[in-house]
Amino acid sequence: MNEDREDAFSSDQYQYTNRWFSGGAKSVWDKLIPQVDPSKILEIGSYEGASACYLIDMLSPRGRVEMHCIDTWEGGIEHKSGGAFESDMTSVEKRFLHNTRLSISRAQNEVVLMQHRGRSDDELARLVAEGRRGYFDFIYVDGSHQAPDVLSDAILSFVLLRKNGVIAFDDYLWQERLSYGADPLRCPKLVIDAFTNIFFRKIRIISAPLQQLYVQKIDD
Ligand SMILES: C[S@@+](CC[C@H](N)C(=O)[O-])C[C@H]1O[C@@H](n2cnc3c(N)ncnc32)[C@H](O)[C@@H]1O
Repeated sequence: MNEDREDAFSSDQYQYTNRWFSGGAKSVWDKLIPQVDPSKILEIGSYEGASACYLIDMLSPRGRVEMHCIDTWEGGIEHKSGGAFESDMTSVEKRFLHNTRLSISRAQNEVVLMQHRGRSDDELARLVAEGRRGYFDFIYVDGSHQAPDVLSDAILSFVLLRKNGVIAFDDYLWQERLSYGADPLRCPKLVIDAFTNIFFRKIRIISAPLQQLYVQKIDD
């Protein structure tokens, strides 16, 4: 069993089977998110909703929250050959619905949750086509870790982000343990590096531990 995988546990009535978020991004978000203070949020890769519920719980006492969650709820191709993922993704999606409903039921202000089930390239393009260019305050890129997928996630996220908004790329340094070693085309880092170089004049990199990479949009 992969070391990331833990037995199912409940936290404050939430149903999570891993600590990816609580053991990773959370410590940075505790300080960063109140500063960004987003109300329109887009998440690529929601799984059981741990990061989405964290954002709803933290931000809903401050005002209205609009949360868009994109996921195939099929897992990534890097996990098909036996990784940290639950093989029963129907149960994962049921836990996402349980967790987000619980979070919303406790919210002090209106929370609008839009669940977009599909590939991120399709769903992000749909959001652009619907007129949401420059719409989101905060975008969390935590879907596929395959470089070609992260490329479309990065570029379309930039289009959808408002000026001064922030994109958080998870797993900047993540890599699979493959029999032939690391494969840069199966990691996010190659794309995040290319994106931050090509968009150099339009973004500011926010100083943070390198497990995630945070960029602020400073120009269109
Ligand atoms: C690491 S999990 C997300 C974890 C979640 N943010 C959390 O904090 O618990 C990655 C998710 O991305 C989804 N995914 C993988 N490839 C995708 C793609 N091309 N489009 C949309 N979702 C994808 C998987 O189904 C999986 O649920």
